[in-house]
Amino acid sequence: MATSRRDKADSYTQRAHKEGYPARSVYKLEEIQQSCRIMKPGDKVLDVGAAPGSWTLYVHRQILKGKGDIVSVDLNPLNLNPVPPTVTMFVGDAFSKEIRAKLTERGPYDAIISDAAPMTTGNRSVDTSRSEYLAEQVVMLADEQLKPHGNLVIKIFQGGGQEAILKDLRTKYAKAKTLKPKACRSDSFETYLIGLDKNQ
Ligand SMILES: C[S@@+](CC[C@H](N)C(=O)[O-])C[C@H]1O[C@@H](n2cnc3c(N)ncnc32)[C@H](O)[C@@H]1O
Repeated sequence: MATSRRDKADSYTQRAHKEGYPARSVYKLEEIQQSCRIMKPGDKVLDVGAAPGSWTLYVHRQILKGKGDIVSVDLNPLNLNPVPPTVTMFVGDAFSKEIRAKLTERGPYDAIISDAAPMTTGNRSVDTSRSEYLAEQVVMLADEQLKPHGNLVIKIFQGGGQEAILKDLRTKYAKAKTLKPKACRSDSFETYLIGLDKNQ
């Protein structure tokens, strides 16, 4: 019998559990990293919308390996025990004045990765417009806090202003594209916008 994509998605959950990651979303970042080389050892990385912490843990374990720093921010605390020594965590709205000041203190960053997503309502047009708003906020954060030549990853729900944001990224980065990792559930309408090599 053929394996459905939902079965495959379940296998990502099992693998995350086995490998000690709090969420299966880690394999989306793994695929993005393998395809686009977003981060490297020694980098200072900002993870926006980081909880429960799979992306942060992946960056710590698989990329920085003790060399570099991760600043993680979310409305909720990370569910990592222990929090790795390379990680500084902030709890709050990543785009608030207070948190942005803290992010600036620790910046600028070599890479900004954002898996931030709104609480979904089930109303697709509400959800996509909230996701679009978050994605625009991340682009602005990267305008301020990403180093020249830095790389950016942003989650967005398809159907919102994805094309307009991509067009904007093409004016700010040497390369910008969309990537939908295989680890995304087949019924999910999320995708990722990637900006590579930020202009000076
Ligand atoms: C899909 S989860 C991220 C999963 C994470 N990448 C991981 O691998 O564990 C999306 C997160 O975005 C966060 N989020 C949404 N809006 C935010 C905001 N304004 N500031 C900070 N975090 C936000 C949510 O609290 C939620 O934890």
